[in-house]
Amino acid sequence: MLAGHETTANMLALGTFALLENPEQLAELRAHSELLPDATEELLRYLSIGDIFYRYATEDIELGGETIGKGSTVVVSLLAANHDPKRFDNPDTLDIHRKARGHLSFGHGVHQCLGQQLARIEMRAGFEGLLRRFPTMRLAVSASEVKLKTDMNIYGVHALLVTWV
Ligand code: HEM
Repeated sequence: MLAGHETTANMLALGTFALLENPEQLAELRAHSELLPDATEELLRYLSIGDIFYRYATEDIELGGETIGKGSTVVVSLLAANHDPKRFDNPDTLDIHRKARGHLSFGHGVHQCLGQQLARIEMRAGFEGLLRRFPTMRLAVSASEVKLKTDMNIYGVHALLVTWV
């Protein structure tokens, strides 16, 4: 439930919020669904809904001039990596044209997300259907009233009230 549902459900809701807050990019995406694969990668990078992961050093490691001792716990922020200006220009800006593949939202290494291809398909299909079937969708409350999941492991919105005519 956590790995396969919380993640994609929150990406869809938070991603919709992010797009509603960027109406020009939303309109472009609605008109050009072929942009969805890149837009999905960018939303994954930009939103980084799973942030903190842990690793344990199995041996002494030299990194960035520091020694991480064998047995130490390393706290890794995927959000910080995905917003690293050395890797992505203007990282705090959503840009559906960005080639964001290579982001770390699905982790890295042997434990990289097992469901990432399914997640990509779910998001492309979800956003495509939502944009096509609800062309006049907009927020029903002001953006500042949307309650964000700052109190949860996986980031997202507690609810996203929308309306359409
Ligand atoms: C947007 C959706 C998703 C995101 C952002 C996401 C993110 C992640 C991340 C960051 C990890 C940890 C990788 C690591 O430790 O290096 C992970 C692992 C995992 N994910 Fe996902 N995930 C998503 C969707 C899914 C789905 C749909 C499934 C299954 C249907 C899934 C199944 C798993 C499993 C089984 C692991 C553990 C892999 C292992 O430890 O070897 N995930 N995911």
